[in-house]
Amino acid sequence: MKDPIILLDKQIIQNQLIHQNITLHLFDTIDSTNQYLKSFLKTEQMHLCCAEQQTQGKGRLGRNWFSPHAQNIYFSFLYFFNKNINSLPGLSLVVSLAIAKVLSTFINQPFLVKWPNDVFYQDKKISGTLIESFALSPNKSAVIIGVGINVNMTDAENEINQPWTSLQKITGHIYNRNEIIISLVNHLLLVLENFAEKGLIYFINEWKECDYLKNQFITIKHLNETLSGYAMGIDKEGQLLLQDENGIIKAISSGEIH
Ligand code: BTN
Repeated sequence: MKDPIILLDKQIIQNQLIHQNITLHLFDTIDSTNQYLKSFLKTEQMHLCCAEQQTQGKGRLGRNWFSPHAQNIYFSFLYFFNKNINSLPGLSLVVSLAIAKVLSTFINQPFLVKWPNDVFYQDKKISGTLIESFALSPNKSAVIIGVGINVNMTDAENEINQPWTSLQKITGHIYNRNEIIISLVNHLLLVLENFAEKGLIYFINEWKECDYLKNQFITIKHLNETLSGYAMGIDKEGQLLLQDENGIIKAISSGEIH
């Protein structure tokens, strides 16, 4: 007999978060959890929005994020930094490392991060993050950290056009998404505090262990250019270091990798 899917439970999640001053919003259906949290920017308080499904889940680079009902994790976390918006480079890397770490506690398998923010298991994507940043004042910024994780999905009905996996596809088990959300948000709270105090450099060893692209020959579309070379890790701002055939290293701040 198949294990039943356990629905998200507001009380269970709220009770186990290590910070009690997070306002939790739980929806059965919403357009996008990232979009929803934009109306709370002025509150300057942490908000967490989770949903069973999204009708307009947003991915990076204007893509859609497939968000079928009660199968996966879709949440957004509104968090504030007492910092200028320009002093948050590398945040997406640190969030992705946090996801990789928490997932590996659930199935005891290594997860890697593909710069800048995809979490991979054996060449297949399992999670993505969409981070939107807002300058509130010269020394205050807000971020909406949107996280999608494929958990119990085994069929994507041709909606995903790249290799993907889910926890259930990896192990054959059904996972309680409440437990994963609780662990991840609690871990994120610690990670975001460390990031604010110590910066990206604090996470550099963890990055080296989880760097999916390390030493791989890649092609990256950056602005109007297509660049190829070997991925050589990241610099202190979280930019990807790409070494071309002449040995010249370029730092790349954004782009799509093949
Ligand atoms: C990507 O890899 O392209 C990023 C995907 C981010 C998806 C999550 S699901 C929860 C949150 N709400 C959204 O609309 N998007 C993010």
